[in-house]
Amino acid sequence: MAFKIALIGCGNLGSRHLQGLKKVREKIQITICEPVESARKTAVERYSQIENNENIVDFQVLDDYHRLEPDYDLAIVATNAANRYEIASWLVENLKIRYLILEKVVFQTLEEFEWFGEKLKNKNIKTWVNCARRMYPFYQDLRPQLEDEEWIDMYVSGGNWGMGSNTLHMVDLYYFLTRFKQYEFDNSGLEDKVSDSKRSGYKEFFGSLIFKTDRGKLSIRCGHEDEPFRIKLITNKGERDINEADGIVCYQSNLTNVAVEKIIEQGECDLTTYEESVFLHEAVLTSFLSHINKFSEEEVKRCPIT
Ligand SMILES: NC(=O)c1ccc[n+]([C@@H]2O[C@H](COP(=O)([O-])OP(=O)(O)OC[C@H]3O[C@@H](n4cnc5c(N)ncnc54)[C@H](O)[C@@H]3O)[C@@H](O)[C@H]2O)c1
Repeated sequence: MAFKIALIGCGNLGSRHLQGLKKVREKIQITICEPVESARKTAVERYSQIENNENIVDFQVLDDYHRLEPDYDLAIVATNAANRYEIASWLVENLKIRYLILEKVVFQTLEEFEWFGEKLKNKNIKTWVNCARRMYPFYQDLRPQLEDEEWIDMYVSGGNWGMGSNTLHMVDLYYFLTRFKQYEFDNSGLEDKVSDSKRSGYKEFFGSLIFKTDRGKLSIRCGHEDEPFRIKLITNKGERDINEADGIVCYQSNLTNVAVEKIIEQGECDLTTYEESVFLHEAVLTSFLSHINKFSEEEVKRCPIT
């Protein structure tokens, strides 16, 4: 029987997940749900750009996730963070789902992580978060090379790289390489002003954010000027500069298929598990929220990042 997949949210990234799904080398059925007509059209157009694959036994397009069938093997939620909790909760409460992949930023409050974690446990749904650097061959090769390092410091820097939205990726990568267990954040280097993101309703941050961990230091900086995005690792044994633009980045349309095939074949994939990601989101959400709350008269509990 074909493995049934529902993809909810087919915007910029969702349409790339969809292209990846079309490359899967196992029998699958795909249903996408996207309420915005122009986004649906773009997604279907991008889907058609990928070579025909006889493993795709069915492809359906819906405008509302409430019209999904009662059961799916895998659901991928690629909407924005603000409505992810509502959508993901409806899916796990109303449908029978075996596996779930959630886009980052998963949720914007710690309470939602806790409530959702309970739902997942009750329904026994294996869930991952799409922090995809863990799937890049470069980082998969690098990780074992760093296994014996006593400590690892990681410095991330660049201009206008979307610190609000992408810090989670850097914390996830640092965790992937170090498996740190404890951290303290220092957000005193963040600029006082919290800027509007290019995505409406979300915020951006500039300046520096530091996490001191039991495995070393993660230092993250974002400036306003054009400046290349770089990662530098310094360990007790040496240094390395990482320029992701040097062929390290893999497109989502070449990753989703790999993750899905592994889930079908092994019930596993290389993405971050929900349980690990709760810890990593907590680091990011609390450091940004504590910064926002320095300037807010009322306590802000929802971190406006996606
Ligand atoms: N993992 C990564 O590397 C990575 C990269 C880029 C973006 N993202 C994340 O993916 C998410 C989506 O980003 P994007 O750039 O695709 O945004 P987007 O706005 O282009 O796409 C979101 C889509 O969700 C749709 N949507 C909204 N409500 C919906 C609903 N009720 N049912 C179904 N669909 C609904 C919107 O119409 C839109 O098309 C964000 O959280 C973003 O941070 C992750």
